[in-house]
Amino acid sequence: MMTYEEASKKLADFGQSHVLRWYEELDDAQKQGLLEQIGSTDFSVLHYSADKDSALERGVITPLGAMETPEIERRQADFREAGIRAIREGKTAAVLLAGGMGTRLGSEDPKCMYNIGLTRPVYIMQRLIENLTDVVKEAGAVIPLFIMTSEKNHEKTVKFMEEMNYFGYDRSKVWFFMQDMAPASDYDGHVYMEAKDRIATSPNGNGGWFLSMRKAGLVDKLHELGVEWLDIFAVDNVLQRICDPCFVGATILSGCSVGAKVVRKAFREERVGTICLEDGKPSIVEYYEMTPELLAANDEKGDPAYNFGVIMNYLFRESELERIVDEKLPMHVVEKKIPYIDADGNPVRPESPNGYKYEQLVLDMVHEMQSCLPYEVVREKEFAPIKNPTGVDSVESARELCRMNGIEL
Ligand code: UTP
Repeated sequence: MMTYEEASKKLADFGQSHVLRWYEELDDAQKQGLLEQIGSTDFSVLHYSADKDSALERGVITPLGAMETPEIERRQADFREAGIRAIREGKTAAVLLAGGMGTRLGSEDPKCMYNIGLTRPVYIMQRLIENLTDVVKEAGAVIPLFIMTSEKNHEKTVKFMEEMNYFGYDRSKVWFFMQDMAPASDYDGHVYMEAKDRIATSPNGNGGWFLSMRKAGLVDKLHELGVEWLDIFAVDNVLQRICDPCFVGATILSGCSVGAKVVRKAFREERVGTICLEDGKPSIVEYYEMTPELLAANDEKGDPAYNFGVIMNYLFRESELERIVDEKLPMHVVEKKIPYIDADGNPVRPESPNGYKYEQLVLDMVHEMQSCLPYEVVREKEFAPIKNPTGVDSVESARELCRMNGIEL
């Protein structure tokens, strides 16, 4: 544990001495809690506030073609066989990244607990487990499932899974781990306080998941189980196919370090991350980074050259993850609404953004890989993300897509 003097020195080094403003008013337990939090907080991320785009400079972008559905259909039998074999041999595991706050959806509970049912309860987590269970049945082998939470939603998520009896999944094959937190700051990089004894923090993005798995001792578990491939997926896509045998087989047979499920863009400017090459290595550019030239470019068939968007379902080769786990990923500095206490100690809930959160993203891990297989899936069958209550990518739109796919709600 840090002493007051050590904490005070650490804060001074990072220009954050205001964190101890109320120290003398705190009781012993609060004092101890705050010193512990100061000890474990990485304040070095805050310097990105001064130059928020410096960490995100781009190299030379060129197209990366996807394996498209006609080819996948033609080679389906081979892909499926290779995928099922890998699953039966225990070489494939699933990793659910569910540490986010889901602020846009606006529910107090973790997003996985959200009920999208109309005539019966259908929780988001239930949809994911049902989809994974389809593959378990087909392969006749239980797929190990790792679930990442954060300190903000861990207890509720675990309790929910217990109460729901893991939706029938074999609980001896489910492991939870928590991601790290990052401080949240004002526009000048000074951390906000969420209470007199607590620095405001938020989950540090979905990019730190493998490091967090290692910290939790779960990379040893992967070795013990003989896992060679990890299918990473987001909590919010309720049509998500997880450890899809065809995708697993196609990625393994391609010899690539990672497979990325992609959908054909609905139109050139669509707000999705585009798969491409950057300085000759696989990469994803965000929609707001697309230049007019990139948007207008065509391939030899006359189709848009940057025509495929990622849906946050990646199959990573485990040994490659171990190779890159200590590399620094770019830092994304994101403007958000951060609740805090003002200089007089009064709580403030801002109506509009008032500062930055600091996040690393899983999509940046793709750029660290040697090679990537973009694998096309049909959007209406596999992509129903829930980000908002209504409108685009919402509970409403996801319900409609479930209905189209014959899922009773
Ligand atoms: P989003 O960027 O949509 O998630 O995450 P969010 O931060 O939960 O949502 P908003 O912006 O506040 O509404 C995509 C996926 O990455 C996970 C989320 O849980 C979701 O599955 N994620 C996000 C993490 O696991 N950790 C994070 O720190 C952030």
